[in-house]
Amino acid sequence: MFNKQTYIQRRKTLAEKMGSGVVLLLGNDESPMNYADNGFHFRQDSTFLYYFGIDFPALAAVIDVDNDRQIVFGDDYTIDDIVWMGPQPTIAERVNEAGIHQALPTAELATMLHEALKQGREVHYLPPYRPENKLKLQHLLFLHPDQIAQKSSLKLIRAVVSQREIKSAEEIVEIEKGVDLSVDMHVAGMQMVRPGMTEAQVAARVYEIAHAANGEISFPIIATINGQTLHNHYHGNILKSGDLFLLDAGGEVESHYCGDLSSTFPVDTTFTAQQKLIYEMSLQAHQAAIDALALNIPFRNVHLAACRSITENMKSIGLLKGNTDEIIASGAHALFMPCGTGHMMGLDVHDMENLGEVWVGYDGEQKSTQIGLKSLRLAKPLKPGHVFTIEPGIYFIPELMDKWQGEGKFTEFVNWAEVQKFRNFGGIRNEEDYMMTETGPCRLGTKVKPKTVEEVEAIRKG
Ligand code: GLY
Ligand code: MN
Repeated sequence: MFNKQTYIQRRKTLAEKMGSGVVLLLGNDESPMNYADNGFHFRQDSTFLYYFGIDFPALAAVIDVDNDRQIVFGDDYTIDDIVWMGPQPTIAERVNEAGIHQALPTAELATMLHEALKQGREVHYLPPYRPENKLKLQHLLFLHPDQIAQKSSLKLIRAVVSQREIKSAEEIVEIEKGVDLSVDMHVAGMQMVRPGMTEAQVAARVYEIAHAANGEISFPIIATINGQTLHNHYHGNILKSGDLFLLDAGGEVESHYCGDLSSTFPVDTTFTAQQKLIYEMSLQAHQAAIDALALNIPFRNVHLAACRSITENMKSIGLLKGNTDEIIASGAHALFMPCGTGHMMGLDVHDMENLGEVWVGYDGEQKSTQIGLKSLRLAKPLKPGHVFTIEPGIYFIPELMDKWQGEGKFTEFVNWAEVQKFRNFGGIRNEEDYMMTETGPCRLGTKVKPKTVEEVEAIRKG
């Protein structure tokens, strides 16, 4: 938790941005796995953490902008709870650390909100993503389930995004800890892989590094020999000589700030000639994206720079043909990169994705529906304090190849016979975390993970 002044200032700024009304912010509850006392790891809501810092379940907060009041609602543990859990600070003690002077029992939240509604006051809330918070909103604000998303406050979404998207110096310190933890996770994974192991053994080792540092993973680990499947969470395969291994994993430190890195490396100690060829192309796309980074440049241009690099390289080995601009405009290049080049990162690994990509990554601008661009989570101009990932990849997805070829798609741009020769290649992604500053882009983290062919082969040879 930061010093209480940080939270006081954040809430003051939010109240100024809102101008009037009642802001309702719900924390997260414990989430049972199979019965109430056997829960998933507790994760506080990131916006609640941002404004209050209190990492504790079953809390809600109201910022009454008109009356300059801030109240946290929650119930203290009873002696029965404390017998099982050990001594616990009271809610009043916890909220004091966030600079809040009023804590009330949960039951009083409904009374307060119902009174506000009776007075015709506007109650602003964010779109909920947990079922229990949807239920709470139904009862607290007399909403039908179908109305909950639609009646969430765009004014509040935009105010929160405008604050959370600009990372302060103290947040960058925490994010760099998350990136450094992620580097440690990747180095451990890259060092251990041997033919005959399972993907699960690698995933377990990567997880161990996060846990041993008293951290968590920032999203479920991708540790796979089928890197062409973009979010592959299956860990049941046995690694064999000749495979490429894709590791996409990030650490979340105690303050809950995240890192997010991807690496691709051979299960053997060296790449094959064909793997090296495509790996070098993926690095060139990565560098093209980094070279395109500049203050106020739309991230869409950064994405398109990576796509251009991949397109040119695919033309150079005869998999694509024709005019590069026309290929990119048609979307044919998305055969090899059907995803986006990066996303915002912070307290969430895809920062604020629950508030809507169109507000977080596009400032309200319509998203493209074209394959590739439709999965680009960030397109807007980069401002100082923006933190984001750079993660172009090259993927050979047999199902996509077969579908498009079967439909007779892109025959003017794709040499299907040549592409089919790569149908068992797999996928490659490298990912690093960057921030934009007044003077240009800056890679985050004090540790650096192996990336070039030489660096990767050196760590693989141990
Ligand atoms: N690293 C996982 C993702 O960005 O989707
Ligand atoms: Mn990512």
